[in-house]
Amino acid sequence: VTPEDERLLERALTLAERGRATARPNPVVGCVIARDGQVLGEGWHVRPGDRHAETNALAACGDPAEVRGATAYVSLEPCAHHGRQPPCVDALIAAGIARVVVAAGDPTPRVGGRGLGRLREAGVEVEVAAGDLERRARRQNAPFRVSNLLGRPYVVLKLAASLDGRTATAAGESRWLSSPESRRLVHEWRACMDAVAVGSGTALLDHPKLTARHVEPPPARQPRRLVFDRTGRVPAELGLERVGEADPADALRRLAGEGVTSLLVEGGPTLAAGLIAAALVDSLALFSAPLLLGGDARPLLGNLGVDTVAGAIPLLDLRSQRVGPDILVEAELHDLP
Ligand SMILES: NC(=O)c1ccc[n+]([C@@H]2O[C@H](COP(=O)([O-])OP(=O)(O)OC[C@H]3O[C@@H](n4cnc5c(N)ncnc54)[C@H](OP(=O)(O)O)[C@@H]3O)[C@@H](O)[C@H]2O)c1
Repeated sequence: VTPEDERLLERALTLAERGRATARPNPVVGCVIARDGQVLGEGWHVRPGDRHAETNALAACGDPAEVRGATAYVSLEPCAHHGRQPPCVDALIAAGIARVVVAAGDPTPRVGGRGLGRLREAGVEVEVAAGDLERRARRQNAPFRVSNLLGRPYVVLKLAASLDGRTATAAGESRWLSSPESRRLVHEWRACMDAVAVGSGTALLDHPKLTARHVEPPPARQPRRLVFDRTGRVPAELGLERVGEADPADALRRLAGEGVTSLLVEGGPTLAAGLIAAALVDSLALFSAPLLLGGDARPLLGNLGVDTVAGAIPLLDLRSQRVGPDILVEAELHDLP
């Protein structure tokens, strides 16, 4: 995979994002058909049942003669099975594509390397990216990968804290630690998630709506809005759907069975620690605001029972960026499948 290949794979990853809000529960996929670095056509997967990224990109190419011998850059391994659409590998082979470069393999049972295998059998040269690009391509489809392989939704834990890692004052006030820019970004995330949840403590204190607001275009559907509430202490009038299982793994399994592939958990500290301790959090998104609240304020997380540094929970693939005046730190709690 050359730097030129990487440039076009980056483009495929960018195109894939266009399906973020609509492709669920399918993966987001982007595809670029190029020849000698010149783009002939681009496509992405819009929604379940519609054409896949590869066939959209092939359809966008002008002259079929140009496509013969060209390279296809795809953000995810092309499918080899008949679903509502015929296999993309057949379309690529029929179009005379000579080389296919993919950003990440598709590990789900229906594909699981068979797409790449079929291409190789047909004499197509196949390359798979490695390193950061491959990691980003996997992360891009974390809901699809985690829900298919682990049988539970992809869980993102989002928290906002002061720079000294406090999530609320001693009196429990946490609105608003993060900036309007950060909160806007969270609304965009909500619009792309199947469900959003808080713990019963937060529901009782803050009455959060958990809807995706201030998002353009307005989301076609709102996420399911849940409260983890084992004892049933949260009144129904708060409008949140109760998750009552005592074991959160059972709750997540049930939600996956109901079609929930992604879950954004927005605190508070007790639920967050409970899910981390149960190894049910995949990714962390922490907004650090330029404020100090001091040691009498409430901590970021409830107790985790960590008593040695060696026993601390490591964070993988740490990234950071400015969002307005805040710093957003994102990381994984384990290698994504
Ligand atoms: N800065 C932020 O990002 C942020 C975000 C949210 C909240 N907050 C603040 O945090 C405070 C509330 O936090 P909190 O820690 O008291 O409440 P919380 O984490 O929202 O809710 C805790 C409750 O969730 C229930 N729960 C259900 N399943 C659980 C599980 N598997 N593990 C752990 N708990 C589970 C438990 O009650 P049952 O046993 O009754 O089920 C538990 O007492 C408020 O001050 C709020 O403003 C800050």
